[in-house]
Amino acid sequence: MDIGDLRNEYCRAGLTRESLASDPFTQFEQWFMQANDAKIHEVNAMQLATVSLEGKPSLRTVLLKSFDEKGFVFFTNYQSQKAQQIDANPEVTTLFFWKELERQVEISGRAEKISTLESLKYFTSRPRGSQLGAWVSAQSSIISSRSLLEIKLDEMKRKFSAGQIPLPDFWGGYRIVPHTIEFWQGRPDRLHDRFEYRRTPSEEWKIERLAP
Ligand SMILES: Cc1cc2nc3c(=O)[nH]c(=O)nc-3n(C[C@H](O)[C@H](O)[C@H](O)COP(=O)(O)O)c2cc1C
Repeated sequence: MDIGDLRNEYCRAGLTRESLASDPFTQFEQWFMQANDAKIHEVNAMQLATVSLEGKPSLRTVLLKSFDEKGFVFFTNYQSQKAQQIDANPEVTTLFFWKELERQVEISGRAEKISTLESLKYFTSRPRGSQLGAWVSAQSSIISSRSLLEIKLDEMKRKFSAGQIPLPDFWGGYRIVPHTIEFWQGRPDRLHDRFEYRRTPSEEWKIERLAP
């Protein structure tokens, strides 16, 4: 197989300046609902890029858990590699690729820890197994075998056998407060539609078309 021969034309839809909402959160909500209605698997999965102080980038998938005009929230281990990079350099970029709709959305901004109360609210809504998982895994650290995880899981099950599982102090949410959000719609002949919302110093959103 020649990978170079793999190509698709994108012709599902176009995106016009007139059709865009005046703020990117309303626009994102519309696209997110459409992606959800289209039954896209893991519609809230997004690729999150962080960069270390030395300029080394890393990328991984996380799940968007809420969004509003304040920003986009995901949850993770606060001692993980991504969290260490965010501590050193809070500038992040995240990307949704909804290929069935021939769309992508790229969000760039600063990641800020959400309040403990907000994290607690989400943590308590998670299934018990996920809550235990947060306690078990020192995310991103090197481990010698899977059995270590299983031993720790048994230990945590015993420790928290009665009552509610507390929120670990090393686990919680980040909110990405965006500077720019780009909406990309695939079009024929690689002449895609791209519109970028940029936050101005007066906290308004300027919308510009970008060349594909
Ligand atoms: C579909 C999918 C969803 C994921 N969601 C999360 C998530 O919400 N939070 C998280 O910390 N890791 C999530 N992960 C695991 C991350 O991709 C990653 O392996 C982990 O966070 C460690 O990343 P790091 O070592 O760069 O910090 C998810 C992975 C996949 C494939």
